[in-house]
Amino acid sequence: MNQQSKPSLHDRYPELGRDNLPVGPYVDEAWYALEKKYLFKKTWLHVGRVEEIAKTGDYFVRDMPVLDSSIIVTRDRKKQVRAFHNVCSHRLNRVAYEPCGTTRKFFCKFHGWAYDLDGSLTGVPDEKSFFDLDKSKYGLTPVSVDTWHGFIFICLDPEPELSLKDFLEPMYGELDGYPFEKFTACYSWNTVFDCNWKTALDAFQETYHVGYVHARSIADALDKDEEGNLHPIDGVCGAHHRRLSIAGNPKSVYGNPKAATGGAGAEDSISGSGTARAIAGKALKVAKDGTKLDFSDLKLPKALNWTGHPNWAFDINVIFPDFYLSCRPNYFQAYNFRPIAHNKTIFEARVYYPEMKTSGGRFYQEYMKVALRDVLLEDLSTLEITQAAAETRAKKEMVLQDYEIMVRHQAVVVERMIRAGLEKDGRDPDIARQTALAGGIL
Ligand code: FES
Ligand SMILES: [Fe+2]
Repeated sequence: MNQQSKPSLHDRYPELGRDNLPVGPYVDEAWYALEKKYLFKKTWLHVGRVEEIAKTGDYFVRDMPVLDSSIIVTRDRKKQVRAFHNVCSHRLNRVAYEPCGTTRKFFCKFHGWAYDLDGSLTGVPDEKSFFDLDKSKYGLTPVSVDTWHGFIFICLDPEPELSLKDFLEPMYGELDGYPFEKFTACYSWNTVFDCNWKTALDAFQETYHVGYVHARSIADALDKDEEGNLHPIDGVCGAHHRRLSIAGNPKSVYGNPKAATGGAGAEDSISGSGTARAIAGKALKVAKDGTKLDFSDLKLPKALNWTGHPNWAFDINVIFPDFYLSCRPNYFQAYNFRPIAHNKTIFEARVYYPEMKTSGGRFYQEYMKVALRDVLLEDLSTLEITQAAAETRAKKEMVLQDYEIMVRHQAVVVERMIRAGLEKDGRDPDIARQTALAGGIL
């Protein structure tokens, strides 16, 4: 029986079920192999932003173990964003060696073949010793690439089942108008941890943990309900993606949506910061009017705060499979949880702020950066312990409550896609469930 005062999120999504989740998909190598084949190698994956390759010849390389690939993303002479496998057509050496840079051509260091920015093979030393070499056949192998609000996505499938637009718009079409391009002060952290990618992402798509894991940092920045619970305002589950809307405590610096970009609301958080958050309050005070661009008239798109909650602080958007995009009125966070193995994940955390024009503004940003670092360290503190515990196989299942529906949604979509892939390949789709269950049993 549902004893909650608010309607259950699970009531809205009966197709997700209410069963416990099998632990197998978090610990099993065979399951991970299915994820690689039927999710990651078939789906659009976020790899970076267009600002990273602003000029012709700018490039970055993403080594992506989950795709068994190294991918070059560059901007060609027609200003088009292009993506290629980082593999020479001659005897398969790499053609880009640095994580990022600017170049006129990609040169293979083995025998000197040269490729233009559009991937075409333009130079072959001692070409006449080959046998009627038709250079037009031996360009770099392209990878599907497209952009959305400045985010670059690649898809290893040369013919993706859905265009990037069709993949994203049903859930995120109404994010149009969010000023992603104005938040140009970016800082980032990268790290590797020994846990499954879903274990990591799950820790970022529910608020149930906040009162405990973040008890001493940001628990007071979120809005509590009458019973003192940190429930999200609402959640939406789509065909692939999901959204969670979170209310903040406007009297806290971290939970006030107006806090970096000014506005009357920010005064509340200064006055409410008290002695426990004295530095936060001071940092916010000196940041007043510190942004280079004026955000005071910013109209947020319909997709954000879709319930119109007065204390709304931010939305979490989880773009399937591994891209966490949290949008606030004054900055956004873009995290990726890139699998390396069934129990190893690269965490790429990027935070995008508006550029500041005053030293007070810069101080505020540095303060927020350190505050977020501490919050992230708290989040990460559970992950390797959880993974090691899952691998003991002491538990075959995990138990979820209503507000952990995003964790459930992820598991359901992953399994659904694996089943569809197996079926398409003429294999028994029930292998998916059997593998999930078998992975959790000694
Ligand atoms: S392997 Fe690249 S030129 Fe030979
Ligand atoms: Fe957290």
